[in-house]
Amino acid sequence: MTEKRRLAVVTGGMGGIGTAICQRLAQDGCKVVATYHPAEEEKLADWSAARAAEDLQIGLVKGDVSSAEDSARMMAEVEEKFGAVDVLVNCAGITRDTTMKRMTDEQWDAVIETNLNSVFYVTKPVWEGMLSRGFGRIINISSVNGQRGQFGQANYSAAKAGMHGFTMALAQEGAAKGVTVNTISPGYVKTAMTDAIRDDVKEAIISGIPMRRMGLPEEIASAISFLAAEQQAYVTGANIPVNGGLFMH
Ligand code: CAA
Repeated sequence: MTEKRRLAVVTGGMGGIGTAICQRLAQDGCKVVATYHPAEEEKLADWSAARAAEDLQIGLVKGDVSSAEDSARMMAEVEEKFGAVDVLVNCAGITRDTTMKRMTDEQWDAVIETNLNSVFYVTKPVWEGMLSRGFGRIINISSVNGQRGQFGQANYSAAKAGMHGFTMALAQEGAAKGVTVNTISPGYVKTAMTDAIRDDVKEAIISGIPMRRMGLPEEIASAISFLAAEQQAYVTGANIPVNGGLFMH
C-alpha cells in the first residue's frame, strides 16, 4: 500500500515514449515531472493542454541532459519546486543513424552525450538523497539495439549498451539501501523516432519482428509501472526486453 505520493521525474517526458510514461505514472498515483529539451519549448503549450484535458497534472522543467551543468541545474529546480525525487526515468534519447563509413565525430558525440552521459549527469544529483532516504527507483530506457547491435547505429548501440552497464553497477551500489536500478530495452516502438526511418527499411524491420508490428508507447509504460511500484522492491540490475520477440536471450 502506498503511504505517500511518490515524485517521479521523466527525462524526455514530452517525447513519444516519455509522454506515455508520464501518463501511466500519473495514473498510478505518482506526482510526475517531465523534463524537456530547450528546443521543445514550442511543443509545451499543446502538450500541457493535452495533459490537462486528460485531467493529469504534470510538472514541466526545461534542461539539456547532454550538459552536466544544465542537468545539475535542472534537477535542483525539480527538487526546489516539487520536492525529493523518488522515481527517475532516464528516457531522453536521440538517433543520428548512418553507416560507420559516413559517421562524423559530431554524430558520434551527440548520441553518446545525449543517450549515455546524460544518465550519469541526471542521476548524480538525486542519487545520495535516494540512498539516505532508503527508497529509490531508477529506470533507464535503453534499446533492443543496445543488446544486439544495429546496422547504421554504431553510436546509438554503443550508448544503449553502455546504459545497461551503468544500471548493473549502480544496482549493486543501491541494493542494500532500498534503491533499485533497472533497464528497459524497448524494441521498435511507434513514435516520431521510428517514423523517421525510411519506409523500405522500416518494412524490412517489421517483417523481422515475430509479432509483425511495432510496439506501442503504452506497452513500454506498462513495464515502467511495474518497476516503479512501491511493492516491487526485489528486481534490480535487470534488463527487461519489451520488443515483440525481436531479440531473446
Ligand atoms: N544488414 C546488412 N546489410 C544491410 C543492412 C543490414 N541490417 N541494412 C542495409 N544493408 C546494406 C544494404 O543492403 C545496402 O547494400 P548494397 O549497397 O549492396 O545495396 C547497403 O547496406 C546500404 O544500405 P542503405 O541503402 O540502407 O544505406 P543508406 O546509407 O541509404 O542508409 C541507414 C543507412 C540510414 C543507416 C539505413 O540503413 C537505416 O535507416 N537503417 C535502419 C537503422 C535503424 O534501425 N534505426 C533505428 C531508429 S529507431 C530507434 O533507434 C529506436 C530503437 O531503440 C529501436
